[in-house]
Amino acid sequence: MDRIRIVGGQRLNGTIPISGAKNATLPLMIAGLLTEDTLVLENVPRLADVSQLQRILGNHGVDIMIAGKRPGENGNNGRTIHISAKNIVDTTAPYELVSKMRASFWVVAPLVARMGEAKVSLPGGCAIGTRPVDLLIMALEKLGAEIEIDGGYVIARARKGLRGGEIVFPKVTVGGTHTALMAASLARGTTVIENAAREPEIGDVADCLNKMGARISGAGSSRIVVEGVAKLNGARHAVLPDRIETGTYAMAVAMAGGEVLLQNARPELLQAALDVLAKTGVAVTPTNEGIRVARNGAGLAPVDVATAPFPGFPTDLQAQLMALMTRAQGTSHIRETIFENRFMHVQELARLGAHIRLDGDTATVEGVEKLKGAPVMATDLRASVSLVIAALAAEGETMINRVYHLDRGFERLEEKLGACGAAIERISG
Ligand code: EPU
Repeated sequence: MDRIRIVGGQRLNGTIPISGAKNATLPLMIAGLLTEDTLVLENVPRLADVSQLQRILGNHGVDIMIAGKRPGENGNNGRTIHISAKNIVDTTAPYELVSKMRASFWVVAPLVARMGEAKVSLPGGCAIGTRPVDLLIMALEKLGAEIEIDGGYVIARARKGLRGGEIVFPKVTVGGTHTALMAASLARGTTVIENAAREPEIGDVADCLNKMGARISGAGSSRIVVEGVAKLNGARHAVLPDRIETGTYAMAVAMAGGEVLLQNARPELLQAALDVLAKTGVAVTPTNEGIRVARNGAGLAPVDVATAPFPGFPTDLQAQLMALMTRAQGTSHIRETIFENRFMHVQELARLGAHIRLDGDTATVEGVEKLKGAPVMATDLRASVSLVIAALAAEGETMINRVYHLDRGFERLEEKLGACGAAIERISG
């Protein structure tokens, strides 16, 4: 298993290119199941989760072609992939595949919408909480699917096709909204989705579906209306930039000090997080090319933050902010309201010398004068990268184990940070 070694204390200076968003790429690839034509996605990041979803879609009979690098192209541009679900040969998504990546459960929606049936394994436990799929099932039922749960599988049937309906989500769910959008696009009649998730990735998927011939309006607001169509066609779509990668590197610069341009980043995708960074005293400047982040000399002010659905502060940046606040000049409070158990990084940050107290959903972080390197490991993607951020400012060497978590969601992390002066290397084996 690969490890990452970081020696803290180097400032970051230079440019970090921001990749396409993982959490848009995954549902966009899944949307490829909705049509027998080819869906071309550009700016696709090189991530383990993308390869895993490729295997899952392959199991359904989807052909995926990844275009090679063109002359003159640098490795910073995402890849272009061609997804062709002309013949769906299998409507079952087995446990061995779905259990490796929760988002693969979302295939249930396009499969039942297009094929009239789907048998998809329940995703099972997850390091950041129980994460049920009851609301995804509710959405499919509202569109006329019959649902049975048997042997750990969700079996969804709609022999005569889905029909439009009214879906009112009792709580904001990204996966539920993706499910509803994909299913409703091929349902007969009109669907209204109330309390829809407003995350930018929802808007990106809706844009792509509309290019494929869907009739979706209101994506990005809490009320989405979908006029179902009989058939969707192919399209070409570029994945939007990753707001979580952007926020992560912004916090890395805030932690290490220095000045970095986050190239291609779009401030409106993470305004709440940028506002929090500005409160800590970091200079955040939108430019034509992206976002410039700088901290030169000044200390970090503590902040009180609660995670919330978009446009609030994202849960996917909670661990990274906590790492940053371990060095603030004072006490911060960070409340996690989306997932009930997303604090695995706390104990690992403590190994580096952080002072964090947990009380229910709230972490109280007392800034310390210095962190000290240590061997650490983490159990999920965002927790792992919070350890990278802490390590950048820790004295001496930090060895991060279980790097495969990082590879799921951060493209060439050690290269991007290394190019800006971080002392970081991957140790294979
Ligand atoms: N929930 C239910 N029932 C459901 C579905 C969700 O109770 O049927 C609850 C969840 O347990 C959670 C809350 O609703 O407490 C919100 O969950 P949501 O459905 O929004 O999360 P998700 O769709 O499973 C996506 C991202 C996550 C991100 C969350 C919240 C992808 C592939 N995943 O998950 O990203 O944290 O939205 O923004 O888009 C990550 O990238 O590291 C990651 C975990």
